[in-house]
Amino acid sequence: MVAPRSKTAKDRLEEESVVVRPARNVLGSLRVPGDKSISHRYAMLAGLASGRSRFQNFSPGADCASTLGCMEALGCKVERDGQGNVQMEGLGLELTAPRVPLDCGNSGSTMRMLAGIVAGQRFTSELIGDESLSRRPMKRIIDPLTKMGARIVAAAGECAPLRLRGSQLHAIEYRPPVASAQVKTCVLFAGLLAEGKTTLFEAARTRDHGELALRAFGATVEHARDSVSIQGRQTLRPLEAAVPGDISSAAFFLCAAALFPESNLVIDGVLLNPTRSALLDVLAAFGCRISMLQVEERHGELVGTILLLPGKGRPVVISGAQTALLIDELPVLAAIAPFTEGGIEVRDAEELRVKESDRLGSVTKNLRMMGAEVEQRVDGWLIPGGQALHGAEMDSFGDHRIAMAFAVAALRAQGDSLIRDSGCVAISYPGFFADLERLVER
Ligand code: S3P
Repeated sequence: MVAPRSKTAKDRLEEESVVVRPARNVLGSLRVPGDKSISHRYAMLAGLASGRSRFQNFSPGADCASTLGCMEALGCKVERDGQGNVQMEGLGLELTAPRVPLDCGNSGSTMRMLAGIVAGQRFTSELIGDESLSRRPMKRIIDPLTKMGARIVAAAGECAPLRLRGSQLHAIEYRPPVASAQVKTCVLFAGLLAEGKTTLFEAARTRDHGELALRAFGATVEHARDSVSIQGRQTLRPLEAAVPGDISSAAFFLCAAALFPESNLVIDGVLLNPTRSALLDVLAAFGCRISMLQVEERHGELVGTILLLPGKGRPVVISGAQTALLIDELPVLAAIAPFTEGGIEVRDAEELRVKESDRLGSVTKNLRMMGAEVEQRVDGWLIPGGQALHGAEMDSFGDHRIAMAFAVAALRAQGDSLIRDSGCVAISYPGFFADLERLVER
């Protein structure tokens, strides 16, 4: 199968680099952009609802723009004003055959979750992605979707591009071999379109935005101790919602504030879903005092204000189920670990190797460039605390979370740092460097 490799905004943005100077403090208040995981799911389900959905604070990142582009290619009318307001006209459960390949850009969430939707359509779709996405494993969604009746042809190594022939799917019971919310959501979305009741068993609980979003659009989803089920062919009603601020973006500022004893940081309107907020427990173990104020529920998601004051803490070990819950925050936690009292040990994090970059390797390389002592293991790192690091020239490896993690670490280094290909922050947080500059004191 020959499919063009998608040229993304990231290809162009990667050319930039940024100099980060050491700081004294992180002070002030901030609102972070809309949550990426929730924005993807709302956009996909809005396409399957009958009628007009409206979202505020929709993620401004390139990843969610990829999802909106794919939904447009599948026949949904999408209007966005560049201020976080998005309106979508859903078509009901039957979408329109796309005339172009569905370009998922750099976004694993787009490709894996959308695959569950196009698998249940009456047409064939082609899902393409950029170079990084075309290296990432897709067997994890090919297996369950094939069991449900879809026909999928992938490139060598079961990677994108994917040619996916949709059909009337049938329900399955499925136990994914890896803990992945993208896989869970993919199977639930396919289950929505299938005949019968689909059940997914989870060994380790992952983020539950797929389940909550389905309910917000009016579907019934059953939850048991270690499983989630959906009855197929339910109709969805449109949704009006404000997307909570992305806690994985807030993580960079919380970790930056934790580096300086005099910091005082307030983040408003941020997602506090317990399957996403394990970072706050780790920061508390690092000695930070954290308050949560004005907590409310929006369409099943908890949202509130976080107030963080730093302090002195103890060594932290992250493993097992906690690793799965912290998967996107591990790079920044590792990046600040040398500056903490007791350091960090991360286990069971092999999944980091197959993210936008090999995040185990990317973090180790950059920490070593800064002069850090770090032991890289097959499934994580051991990073002693109490280290003094120097500024360095580092790489983003084309990975937004690596660029942001090391912009944070650079604040505590001796001397300036340079981060190459820093433009990739636009994948999730186009205004990241402007917000960082506003909050740091030098
Ligand atoms: C996501 C799940 C995680 C995470 C990704 C977003 C989601 O991936 O790393 O950034 O929205 O479901 P996995 O499902 O591969 O763990």
